[in-house]
Parts: sequence; structure tokens; C-alpha cells
Amino acid sequence: VTIAVLGTGAVGRTIASKLVELGHDVIMGSRTRDSDKAAEWVRTTDGRGAQGTFADAAGPADVVFNCTSGVGSLAAVELAGRDRLRRKILIDVSNPLDFSRGMPPSLTVCNTDSLGEQIQRALPETKVVKTLNTVNHLVMVDPLRIPGDHVIYVAGNDAGARAQVAGWLGDWFGWKPGSIIDLGDITAARGTEMVLPLWIRLMSTLGTPVFNFTIAR
Ligand SMILES: NC(=O)c1ccc[n+]([C@@H]2O[C@H](COP(=O)([O-])OP(=O)(O)OC[C@H]3O[C@@H](n4cnc5c(N)ncnc54)[C@H](OP(=O)(O)O)[C@@H]3O)[C@@H](O)[C@H]2O)c1
Repeated sequence: VTIAVLGTGAVGRTIASKLVELGHDVIMGSRTRDSDKAAEWVRTTDGRGAQGTFADAAGPADVVFNCTSGVGSLAAVELAGRDRLRRKILIDVSNPLDFSRGMPPSLTVCNTDSLGEQIQRALPETKVVKTLNTVNHLVMVDPLRIPGDHVIYVAGNDAGARAQVAGWLGDWFGWKPGSIIDLGDITAARGTEMVLPLWIRLMSTLGTPVFNFTIAR
């Protein structure tokens, strides 16, 4: 599978490295074709990773990860291109965090809308699946780092795409089927994004970003 990872930050680099390790062709996308951060990542891949603009990455990809900053995500997917993303699954791990007024960040969208929905509206012919945004990037690709049962959510309008992404979460990253909760359509992204204020507070209370939630019933 050829996979585009839009984003050169810690999340993009962690996901891209894991996918290269699994033998996939990965293209990291950035606003610029010669991004230093992407180039630095490419050097770690023994020639198996490539870099380009968001559009260069999206064009040949079968699957696309959105790992861009929440405030830049709509611009990033527009640059990737509605046509180049048509009929593809876009796995959205972004959070709508606004750090412009310092810590803690506020949410740029919440309650009656979400960044996942905004991205889906911007890309009506793309199957947007929101997942992984509720855990640190180290946990995304290595859930066994945290002992015990802990959960990850998938949300998106296309049931087949949600099932496909749930399968990839297991095959690529090691999430157990029983720990993946299918929340249904993309409006569920409201809740999974609104968890972030609690998540950020917990990170400072617990003194680590490596934790996750478990659901008891
Ligand atoms: N850090 C975590 O563990 C974690 C966990 C869960 C979810 N998330 C979410 O994952 C996403 C990525 O986080 P991160 O810390 O790896 O990186 P980040 O610093 O939030 O984002 C970096 C990427 O966003 C792009 N970008 C920034 N502003 C942009 C704009 N105005 N237009 C278009 N693109 C723009 C950058 O493009 P250039 O390459 O051109 O600079 C870069 O590729 C965020 O939405 C974050 O909330 C993070």
C-alpha cells in the first residue's frame, strides 16, 4: 500500500516511521517540497520514505493520514486536493487546538461541530475516519506500551471505511479488536475532540503523555 502522511511533526514522523518499518511506501507531505523536517525523516528510512508537498503525497497514495496542526488542517487538505483525495480513506488524527493565547489551548470548534466534520465537508467524496487523536503519538503506534485494557475510537460516515481502519489499527499498530470502539458517524468526532481539555490536564497532573482511558461497564 502507498500511504501519504500529511504532516512533518512528531505525529507524522512516528506514524510514517512505523509504516515504513512494516514495508509500506510512505510519502510525507508538507507545505514545502523541500521541508527540512521531512528530509530529516527521509534520511532515517534507508530510501524507503519519500517527501513532497501535500499534493505530491496525496496524488499516488491509496490511504492518507492527516497529521497536521489543527489550525492548519483545512488548509492542508485543500492543498492536498479534493480531487487527489477523492474516494480515498483519510485517517484524521488531528485535534482542533488553538495555542495562540498560551496554555492551556482552547478548541477552535466544539459542541455542535468538529474538525473531523469540517474536513469531511471540505472533502465530500473522501471517506474521513477520525481516530487516534485521543492518545499520544507514541501510544498510537504501540498501544502495548500501556498495560491493561484501554480504548481507541473510530468515527466516520462510511461503515466500510470504519471497519477497514479498525483492521489497520490492529494490523499496523497492534490495537486489539476488543479495544477499538466504533462510535458511528463523523459527528462522534465532537466528543473525541472535546476530550482534549481533560487529556491535556491529565498530562500535567500525571506528569506523562503516555496514558489512556479505559471504559468500565
Ligand atoms: N503530539 C501528539 O502526540 C498528538 C496526539 C494526538 C493528536 N495530535 C494531533 O496531531 C496533529 C499533528 O501534531 P504534531 O504535534 O505532530 O504536529 P503540529 O506541529 O501540530 O503540525 C505540524 C504540521 O502541520 C502543518 N501546518 C501547520 N500550520 C499549517 C497551515 N497553516 N497550513 C497547512 N499546514 C500547516 C505543518 O506543515 P509544514 O510541514 O509545512 O510545516 C506540519 O506538517 C495535530 O493536529 C495534533 O493536535 C497530536
